[in-house]
Amino acid sequence: VGTLTEADLKGKKVFLRADLNVPLDDSQNITDDTRIRASVPTIKFLMDKGAKVILASHLGRPKGVTPKYSLKPLVPRLSELLGVNVVMANDCIGEEVQKLAASLPDGGVLLLENVRFYKEEEKNDPEFAKKLASVADLYVNDAFGTAHRAHASTEGVTKYLKPAVAGFLMQKELDYLVGAVANPKKPFAAIVGGSKVSTKIGVIESLLAKVDILILGGGMIFTFYKAQGYAVGKSLVEEDKLELATSLIEKAKSKGVSLLLPTDVVVADKFAADADSKTVPASSIPDGWMGLDIGPDSIKTFSETLETTKTVIWNGPMGVFEFEKFAAGTDAIAKKLAEITAKGVTTIIGGGDSVAAVEKAGLADKMSHISTGGGASLELLEGKTLPGVLALDDA
Ligand code: 3PG
Repeated sequence: VGTLTEADLKGKKVFLRADLNVPLDDSQNITDDTRIRASVPTIKFLMDKGAKVILASHLGRPKGVTPKYSLKPLVPRLSELLGVNVVMANDCIGEEVQKLAASLPDGGVLLLENVRFYKEEEKNDPEFAKKLASVADLYVNDAFGTAHRAHASTEGVTKYLKPAVAGFLMQKELDYLVGAVANPKKPFAAIVGGSKVSTKIGVIESLLAKVDILILGGGMIFTFYKAQGYAVGKSLVEEDKLELATSLIEKAKSKGVSLLLPTDVVVADKFAADADSKTVPASSIPDGWMGLDIGPDSIKTFSETLETTKTVIWNGPMGVFEFEKFAAGTDAIAKKLAEITAKGVTTIIGGGDSVAAVEKAGLADKMSHISTGGGASLELLEGKTLPGVLALDDA
């Protein structure tokens, strides 16, 4: 979008797809406005160039028109951030939308109602895409978080609106999650955590081809331990992934990647915030205990290793950080990454849970890049292409 000038945009109706899928509480209050704030630079740019901005998004996964998934609660926050009165439509297509769009002043913003109120959105129905497109002159996609979905407002609509270009947020996400990962300053380390190895196989395999160091944490490590013959107590283990774990260890070796598994773990007698806990060596978790976090020796080793890097990508927490007692590993990694970012290391946080952990630690603005996409950033890290990106002119 940065290449578009005032001549391209003044008085033009721009269909801007953003990902305004923010969490709302039971009283429809926004509990995290990160995605709204992240969408502001592109909206403001278009406003400043005199475009009429027609803003579209989904929210949640409604089945048909569902008031609790309305985008209306976002209007006050958007208006405040943009410094204009954002106009809200009751629908995302149809006569009312056409009329409101026609009466928008240059620099005005019209927010459409949830595109997922129509099942045609997720079906990527061409007729529906055509109706969405019919209100505008050109298309900007800034919805990185939804770029892995080939839906009418992210993909189909590009067949009817030209130019179709990426917004600033989309561009920034791709610069980091594709650019910095493909051409990292070395040494390049990945930290992969999360509860299950099965959901991270693609990410680990793809990263093994790129990184110098791979640090593993989270619930998935117990599958690796069991594969190596360690006693894992009643820790989470994916029995059908033991061979896979062994083959990933072999693959790391054959590629010369230094693979770090925690050497000590914090174990609990039950999966609860108030569980009894103690630290034990990774190789000998006692019967009846389960690992819920990495231990202090591992934190030390991981931290020292991270000090030697120039680029780090983090996906997935080190332990059950939702429980204060088992948050130390995840918190320590977040702190270390903030510290090395200040020293010039490029740090990229991709994926929902690690982003939540960094935000919980209050370190969100201390990283080089925090992704606004969960599924989308995971798919990119797996080396997949995203349909919402591929559909753009400059893809
Ligand atoms: C997300 O929250 O990951 C995106 O907004 C996509 O939402 P979806 O998983 O419902 O498609």
